[in-house]
Amino acid sequence: MFRNDFQEMRHTRQTLSYLDLQTMKQQGEIISCLTAYDASFARLIDQAMIDVILIGDSLGMVIQGHSTTLPVTLDDMLYHTRCVTKACQRPFVVADLPFMTYFSPHTAAQNAASLIREGAQMVKIEGCKIEIVEFLVTQGIAVCGHLGLLPQSIHQMGRYKVQAKVENSAQVLQHDALALEKAGISMLVLECIPAKLAQQISQQLTIPVIGIGAGNGCDGQILVIYDALGISIDISPRFSKNFLLEASSIQEALEKYRLAVKKREFPTTAHSF
Ligand code: KIV
Repeated sequence: MFRNDFQEMRHTRQTLSYLDLQTMKQQGEIISCLTAYDASFARLIDQAMIDVILIGDSLGMVIQGHSTTLPVTLDDMLYHTRCVTKACQRPFVVADLPFMTYFSPHTAAQNAASLIREGAQMVKIEGCKIEIVEFLVTQGIAVCGHLGLLPQSIHQMGRYKVQAKVENSAQVLQHDALALEKAGISMLVLECIPAKLAQQISQQLTIPVIGIGAGNGCDGQILVIYDALGISIDISPRFSKNFLLEASSIQEALEKYRLAVKKREFPTTAHSF
């Protein structure tokens, strides 16, 4: 089948939309998400009925072997978004805008538009960038926020560690989440923050809140697929789990991940902060 046929299928068959994710939140169905960077994993994720695929700039670490996500370029993201969207039909597809590709509203809109043209349905940006979000939304682009641990700010943060552990920073994060929702984001990722705080924010916001290392009180869960399969280059983070250990194939591991998320069996307190 040719690319145009796949693209056509994505828009005419059962591709999930943002509204489906919103309905899942309203009905209390947990949203299952995984990262993917290529056609083969995208297809397996689709077959496992995972709801959301994120083409994360984590590809800089797990695909390209860098120690941070900072070297990832827009061209890298376009290439991997193209690979993923060719191969999946049902999952809702989000793509990261990489480091320094959204420093001004116009730059953000141009770069987001190029990811959307490759088949992404939403773009994700890190931090509380109200002006950028507002401008993207006025251009008709759906935006996912990302708060907590911000890998693109690693040199400001110092190291990969749990964020918002003290009252002051927890309040700032909560305030930022509400401000982003008001600015028009349609989804929010919370990375590496205390479970109780993530649960409070998920309850306060009307949009779906997806956690990674943020406990099981969020509206959805995401993992880097290589962590979920135990094949990351470095030691997997504490909040992750190798689902392949309990499965006889990658397909079964992905299905187990989906079920564990849907039943709120993952993450457990051992995977939370
Ligand atoms: O880049 C990525 O994979 C991400 C997830 C960790 C949420 O942003």
